[in-house]
Amino acid sequence: MTSKTNGSTPGTPDNPWGDTKTATPTSGVNLGPTRRPRPVFPEPPPREVHGPARVVAMVNQKGGVGKTTTTINLGAALVEYGLKVLLVDFDPQGALSVGLGINPHQLDLTVYNLLMDSSVTAQDVLLETGVEGLDLLPSNIDLSAAEVQLVTEVAREQILGRTLKPLLPYYDVCLIDCQPSLGLLTVNALTCAHGVMVPLECEFFALRGVALLMDTIAKVQERLNDELEIEGLLATMYDARTLHGREVLARVVEAFGDKVFHTVINRTVRFPDATVAGEPITTFDPSSLGATAYRELAREVLSRWPAPATMAR
Ligand SMILES: Nc1ncnc2c1ncn2[C@@H]1O[C@H](COP(=O)(O)OP(=O)(O)O)[C@@H](O)[C@H]1O
Ligand SMILES: [Mg+2]
Repeated sequence: MTSKTNGSTPGTPDNPWGDTKTATPTSGVNLGPTRRPRPVFPEPPPREVHGPARVVAMVNQKGGVGKTTTTINLGAALVEYGLKVLLVDFDPQGALSVGLGINPHQLDLTVYNLLMDSSVTAQDVLLETGVEGLDLLPSNIDLSAAEVQLVTEVAREQILGRTLKPLLPYYDVCLIDCQPSLGLLTVNALTCAHGVMVPLECEFFALRGVALLMDTIAKVQERLNDELEIEGLLATMYDARTLHGREVLARVVEAFGDKVFHTVINRTVRFPDATVAGEPITTFDPSSLGATAYRELAREVLSRWPAPATMAR
C-alpha cells in the first residue's frame, strides 16, 4: 500500500500528503480528502415537474460499509433539494425500513409480496416516511425466501424492474438498498438500474471483493442491462486523523480514479444515533458534518446525472 498518489506532494509518515497549504504545485487549489482539486457542486435549480426516476442500486457484497446509511441520507438530502425520492429496501434484514422508523416485521405487505404475487401492486406496499417527499417500499425477513423462489421464474432477473415501473414516473430518483450479496436479488437491482453506487468503508479490506463486484457489474451490462453505469465509489467511515484511513482512501483513488466521488463521508457516531432515532441525519442533526456531507454528495451526484428528460425506460 502506498501513501502517495501525487508525486509532487512530499509526504512523511506523520503527514503523508505533505502540507497542502505550502506545497507549491497545488497551492491555492482546494484539495479534498481524495487529494484531487475539489470542484464546487452547485445547488440544483428547483424542479417544477417530477419524474421519471433515475434508478440507482446501492451495492457492495460486504456488509457494514454504509449502503443503508447512504441510501437513507442521500435520499433525504435529495429531497431537501426538491426531488421526489423512492427508497427500496431490498435487504431481508429490513435495516432501511428500521432506519426510517418503521418496524417492518409488523407489516403484512412488503417488497416480497410485490415480487411474488402479481395481484399486489407497488401502491399497496408503498409507505410515506417522516420526511415529506421520501417514500419507501419496505422489506422484512420474508424477502430471504424470494432469492430461492425467483430462481424458477421466467425472466427472473427482471422482476424487480417490472414491479417498480408503475411508480417511476412519479419520482425523480429511486435508490435501491441491496443486501450484502451478489445473488439474484442484487442482480435484479442491477438489471433495472441506470446506475450503481458502491460505498466502501475506509478500512484495510475495503478493496477486497471489489474486483468480483466489478465483474458482476460487467456481466450484467453485457447480458441484461447495457445502460447500467457505475455512478461512483463512495468512501465512507473515513477518519482523516489516522494514517491508515488516508492510505486506504489513496489506494481507492489510485485504483478507480475519477469514479471515486470527491465527497467523502467521515466516521461519526451521529449516524448510528440517527438510526436509533429512526430518521435521516439531515433531520436528526441538520447542521452536523454528516448531514453536510450527504448534501454535498447529493449535489455531486446531481452534477453527474443527465437531464431528467432522458431517464425514461
Ligand atoms: N460514516 C459513518 N460513521 C460511523 N458509523 C457509520 C457510518 N456509516 C454507517 N455507520 C454505521 O455502521 C453500521 C453499518 O452501516 P450500514 O449503512 O448499515 O452498512 P451496510 O448497509 O453496508 O451493511 C451501522 O451501524 C451504521 O449506523
Ligand atoms: Mg444495509
